[in-house]
Amino acid sequence: MRAALLTGIGGPEMMQLGETPVPLTLNSDTLVRVKAAGVNPIDGKTRSGAGAAKAISSFPSTLGGEFSGVVVRAPYELAPFQPGDEVYGMLLFPRYSGAYAEYVSVPFMSLAKKPENLSFIEAGGVPLAVLTAWAAVVEAGGVYTGQRVLIHAGAGGVGHFAVQLAKYYGAHVITTASERNHDWLRELGADQIIDYRSERFEDTIAEPVDVVIDLIGNVKDQTGTRSLRVLRDGGTLINVPTGSYPELFEEAAAENRGIVASTFKLSPEGRILQTITQLFEQGALQTHVDRVFPLAEAGAAQELIAGGHVRGKVILDIDA
Ligand SMILES: NC(=O)c1ccc[n+]([C@@H]2O[C@H](COP(=O)([O-])OP(=O)(O)OC[C@H]3O[C@@H](n4cnc5c(N)ncnc54)[C@H](OP(=O)(O)O)[C@@H]3O)[C@@H](O)[C@H]2O)c1
Repeated sequence: MRAALLTGIGGPEMMQLGETPVPLTLNSDTLVRVKAAGVNPIDGKTRSGAGAAKAISSFPSTLGGEFSGVVVRAPYELAPFQPGDEVYGMLLFPRYSGAYAEYVSVPFMSLAKKPENLSFIEAGGVPLAVLTAWAAVVEAGGVYTGQRVLIHAGAGGVGHFAVQLAKYYGAHVITTASERNHDWLRELGADQIIDYRSERFEDTIAEPVDVVIDLIGNVKDQTGTRSLRVLRDGGTLINVPTGSYPELFEEAAAENRGIVASTFKLSPEGRILQTITQLFEQGALQTHVDRVFPLAEAGAAQELIAGGHVRGKVILDIDA
């Protein structure tokens, strides 16, 4: 099959279009013909030696943690997804070979029905990003009606879902983004949007917040540490990118104000994705595709994301 192969650790030139065997299906694995694959920051980080790079046992390797496509082989006759079904799902790379390829083999419990009102291109960028947003906002963050929630990087792939989920669960949503994204984020449900380039969020937020969903961390501008200043006593800080813990959590504990700081581990749960499908079909969630690249330009797609300013998602069109 055709795939965008990671040929070694390095720059975008390490991503090369090539041929690789169709992945094996074992146990409950379902074979899916991929139509679109979402590109995530972890992909470029892994390519350049961080992220999941240490877990790669040999090259070439196939990256990509989310996809949409059509089932071509089910593990048994009464399995939930059968040939011809339109699905989307998340893959745990490198335990499973990634989605920058014509086929993926994936346990059916990591799949869900593709929302009918999303194209394959739109749906391909949803699973990993939305499951991250769900894990941060709903599971770890435990956001509920009436809470004040601050979400850093609301305009990104995870952030635009986090803003909508926090709003769906009844929160007052404050988010940080550059000016050009403000009108769009207001349409998605954000109540207050802070331009992090011209204002310091800790000077602008009038009342303390209950929960911070931190998609930036101390990787930029000490965003994680500064977030502790806007949290109420007993509030919750959920840190998403790696690189800011455990120091950030030690800082939270040292303040002695009962702040709980945590990260979380992502799980490729089809049952949650099935709920997400319903939210899309009810019109409670939407996604935004910033740019679509052909499979041969996977390296360029990763570089666009590494620039740090995509709006919503970047997608690989597998057949382009
Ligand atoms: N632990 C996990 O399981 C997991 C899973 C998924 C993602 N992640 C990590 O979570 C982070 C976010 O992922 P993502 O896919 O949402 O990334 P992304 O789509 O690349 O995020 C891009 C967004 O970040 C915003 N941004 C950049 N600098 C900012 C700042 N200083 N303050 C506020 N917003 C800023 C940009 O907004 P403007 O254009 O308006 O500046 C842009 O919209 C990444 O580090 C990723 O690796 C972790």
